[in-house]
Amino acid sequence: MADVLDIAKRRGFFWPSFEIYQGCSGFYTYGPLGALMKLRIENLIREYYMIQEGCVLIEAPILTTEDPWVASGHIESFTDMTIECQKCGEAYRADQLIEEKIGKDVEGLGLGEIQKIIKDKKITCPKCSGVLGNVYDYNLMFKTYIGPGKNKISGYLRPETAQTTYMPFKRLYELGRRKLPLGIIQFGKSFRNEISPRKGLVRLREFSQAEVQFFIHPKQRDNHPRFSEVKNLKVPVLTKQDQKKTQKPRMMKIGELVKKKFASEFITYFLARSWQIYMQMGIDPKKLRLRQHKDEERCFYSKDTWDVEFLSDNYGRIELVGIADRTDYDLKRHMGLSRQDMKVDWNGEKIIPRVIEVAYGIDRPLFCVMESCLREDRDRVYFAFPPRVSPYQVAVFPLVRKNGLPKLARSIFEMLRRCGFLVLYDETGSIGRLYYRQDEAGTPYCITIDYDSKKKEDVTIRNRDNQKQIRVKIKKLPGVLRGLFEGEKFETLGRVIKQTAGKQKSRK
Ligand code: GLY
Repeated sequence: MADVLDIAKRRGFFWPSFEIYQGCSGFYTYGPLGALMKLRIENLIREYYMIQEGCVLIEAPILTTEDPWVASGHIESFTDMTIECQKCGEAYRADQLIEEKIGKDVEGLGLGEIQKIIKDKKITCPKCSGVLGNVYDYNLMFKTYIGPGKNKISGYLRPETAQTTYMPFKRLYELGRRKLPLGIIQFGKSFRNEISPRKGLVRLREFSQAEVQFFIHPKQRDNHPRFSEVKNLKVPVLTKQDQKKTQKPRMMKIGELVKKKFASEFITYFLARSWQIYMQMGIDPKKLRLRQHKDEERCFYSKDTWDVEFLSDNYGRIELVGIADRTDYDLKRHMGLSRQDMKVDWNGEKIIPRVIEVAYGIDRPLFCVMESCLREDRDRVYFAFPPRVSPYQVAVFPLVRKNGLPKLARSIFEMLRRCGFLVLYDETGSIGRLYYRQDEAGTPYCITIDYDSKKKEDVTIRNRDNQKQIRVKIKKLPGVLRGLFEGEKFETLGRVIKQTAGKQKSRK
């Protein structure tokens, strides 16, 4: 079985950071393929929210002062219950340890109850069997200091972008000509000092987010103007009531979710849009579902939260996006601490807007796209990435490295680059090897320049997924590629030829 993590490392999508110094869990470096793919995933989200939903983009500091997190409640409540081994010092998330050891779900239990289970069940350190100490609340934020000397102040690396969008709400409202709903999107890094991250890109201490905050009239959550566009989408759903009896989702139309009062229109609309975005990314819909947070797991700031979840062969359940009704909680809290008025005048009425948050992770969908798109044929392994998110859109090779073919191939590569395609040139291997390399990089189309190309001014385009080839005139290449990326059928865009050049076997 081909392994995503193995290919990711070997081909340079991503790998554990600081590896020359033994590494540190929870940090990954994106290589040339991964960094590009991540950018394209971000662009897909950016384009959807900015073009289709009219959101505006901001960028705030990732290192902040302490006040925002006092106001938001993160200093007090952004914690995991932790327990340490008294012998070897290893730390564990107490709830996860209980779940692993005795298979009991302890979500929602308090510190004392958790401590009692660990004692009663005689749970010891999984690493050295040492005695475990007392359970305590461990804050997940990274603390630092800003400035030198006696006057230095406390600083924190933000654990979410959200607060850095809430703080300037009033300014953004004015800049947006005092309109509600107001949609603000922010991309960037956030940080959580996870206790023992072991799930690759799925649980990182430094990670990328795309968080959209919709500031709406408090009563608008049950009315999204474009809801009818998504109401017939059918998806697997697991409500909080259902989870008392089962983990099996039921198929439901998006419209039904609202009609049966499982969720508000605003939340449901963005669940549907997120589902569509994941389809565009190439995530396997058979592994996706919508899940509502149970009351005991919901974050302290939310009245209702729903996730789109991916069921991974590698890591189990992965939350891809969390959509939360944060009410007026955050704005009210900032108003209280900063003493700045966050109210707005709405037709003579003073209101604090309600916030519906759509919080995307970026690293996680990247991994899920890779897991969803990995294919294995008899003699090759490839990623069937949609051209919208594949690192490169097209690669160009000369059939051989002689008789002027590299020169012609390079000129075609340059021409495509000038046309704005994400194109790669490679001549460092046999044609079979070059194809294999691009299959593992998930490049949808490869262009080969051969002897006929010089005489007839045409080239071969090879389709990654079915390995079929068409012959296309060089001057028509940009138009043909554009057609392919807009979804035109491969076989209709050129003369279909039969042979597949080169052997597919050799790796490297
Ligand atoms: N802002 C919500 C989250 O980071 O999950």
